[in-house]
Amino acid sequence: MCGIIGINSSKPVSATIINSLKKLEYRGYDSAGIATLSAGLINEVKSEGRVDNLEKDSLVQNMQGTIGIGHVRWATHGLPNSINAHPHSSQNVSVVHNGIIENSTLLKKFLVSKGHKFKSQTDTEVIVHLITEYLKTKNIIDSIKKTLKSLHGSFALGILFKDQPDLIVGARRGSPLAVGYGPNENYLGSDSYALKSMTNKITYLNDGEFCFIKKDQVEFFNNEGIKINKKVLQLSSEEQKYDKGDYKHFMAKEIDEQPKTLKNGINEYLDNINNDINIYNFPWKISEISSVLLIGCGTAYHSCLMAKYWFEQITSLDVNVDIASEFRYRKNRFKKDTLYVFVSQSGETADTYAALDLCKQNGMKTCSVVNIIESSIARDSDFVLPIHCGIEIGVASTKAFLGQMLILYILCLKLSFLRKDLDKDNFIKKLIDLKKLPKLVDQTLLTDNKIQSVSSSFNEAKGSMFLGRGFSYPIALEGALKLKELSYIHAEGYPAGEMKHGPLALIEEGMPVVVLAPRDSYYKKTISNMQEVIARGAKVLLITNKSEDEIISENIWETLEVENTNEDLLPFLLTIPLQKLAYYSALKKGYDIDKPRNLAKSVTVE
Ligand code: G6P
Repeated sequence: MCGIIGINSSKPVSATIINSLKKLEYRGYDSAGIATLSAGLINEVKSEGRVDNLEKDSLVQNMQGTIGIGHVRWATHGLPNSINAHPHSSQNVSVVHNGIIENSTLLKKFLVSKGHKFKSQTDTEVIVHLITEYLKTKNIIDSIKKTLKSLHGSFALGILFKDQPDLIVGARRGSPLAVGYGPNENYLGSDSYALKSMTNKITYLNDGEFCFIKKDQVEFFNNEGIKINKKVLQLSSEEQKYDKGDYKHFMAKEIDEQPKTLKNGINEYLDNINNDINIYNFPWKISEISSVLLIGCGTAYHSCLMAKYWFEQITSLDVNVDIASEFRYRKNRFKKDTLYVFVSQSGETADTYAALDLCKQNGMKTCSVVNIIESSIARDSDFVLPIHCGIEIGVASTKAFLGQMLILYILCLKLSFLRKDLDKDNFIKKLIDLKKLPKLVDQTLLTDNKIQSVSSSFNEAKGSMFLGRGFSYPIALEGALKLKELSYIHAEGYPAGEMKHGPLALIEEGMPVVVLAPRDSYYKKTISNMQEVIARGAKVLLITNKSEDEIISENIWETLEVENTNEDLLPFLLTIPLQKLAYYSALKKGYDIDKPRNLAKSVTVE
């Protein structure tokens, strides 16, 4: 959450900072701000809402200065308004911060006793005053060191000093931070995406490190303030040009891009000549793994849950799934023969990263399934399986979900084949079906009209339910999450067979209920559960797959048929109408589809 940018240049920086903040808006968008140094003073402008508001401010348009920092905020402490927006400044120091300072209340007491006056409700402001306080008696390095030592919690920081016209300090603990190198200018960014339009030469800070960014040089320090050398990484020089094209929203574009996402993944991992799966340099022997633990948050957690069904069905491995924020604080029994798999689109989610870190500290085997290959999770896991879906901008994840499921399915097939759980014929059969999947998703994307028309009923209802069994259950959870995220409608995903143990009490006349009942081994059972909700007045949207067999049930409100494929792959197709349902429902409500309220794409606080 929150995006940071810093530029130290010989040219004016405010316009470039604003452009970079626009790119960072996916990390937070409730307020934004910028500070530059000019004529020996710190100039600070902040505004509530989007970066557009900040850009329109005449103070920003006339802002001078060749060195500056900027920030987009996702509020943790204090309301999202212009006072709480970053940067926060004293007369001498200005700070942008991503993360949470857990001991801010105590620190504030200490600072108030020293005469410091606070303007905002944020935890960040204590950092400004701590540095200001320590600068009274110490040099910059020592005051930074002392400040960082006083802070509990997580942070990525960008700091400007009134008396240092050629210095931005960056510091990191827990939240990601990158340095970029340009011609006679250098940059600081909360991720490489923000820096990519300016440079492809990047260095990532590790936990505890800080850096001095000058116009023509960058120096790095460890937490003791001792100078260290760091590698400069060369990122792919192809600047990611990604716009909405003819689409109204990134989400609509990203939904439509899913056949391409799957094709990319399949081309990357499937070996057509040898009918095999290419997973090169897997660092462990197959005999060293007897169980798998899949860990993620949000939509990524749902792809983990989906993978559990495949792993159980297709391999003889023990499989478990965990939500990262739960895993990281539980008493875990780490097992040497477990493969710990971390799933994350951004590769920066704080809870998922902390879970990975915990596994690493305990010497476990770690593998990540990520979209952003330069991310912290990708960099710090033993082995990475990229999902290759291209940048995803819509806060509600769509193509990354299909991409994650695809890679987890591919990993499952490969492990199963290597363990001899799956024989060659069945392995090849599954690969042949998989290759046909992008086309089937493409055809399923055509089911637009019906979804558009039913979406109104979901908007008018007090709440809705999404039911599925077996392979369809994780998809029901994901469908409900999409509707909540985008349309702010109460939606609950539930195992269809569990309804009778409580949630059936929620069903009343006219309540819209999505039932996922593809013709798989659970079909008949799910249809029975569907009848139970219809009998209690629910309006059922049945989503199944095309088949010659008639659906034997009465009083179904609407039926939608996705294409047909094998039982493993049906979840990919069932996902499509659910993404569209959420999209159309939010569209009709006129909500901000790509940036739903209160959410952010990359959640780098716990
Ligand atoms: C946020 C996003 C979700 C995403 C989750 C996990 O909540 O809004 O779309 O599923 O984070 O993100 P990750 O990047 O780890 O997949």
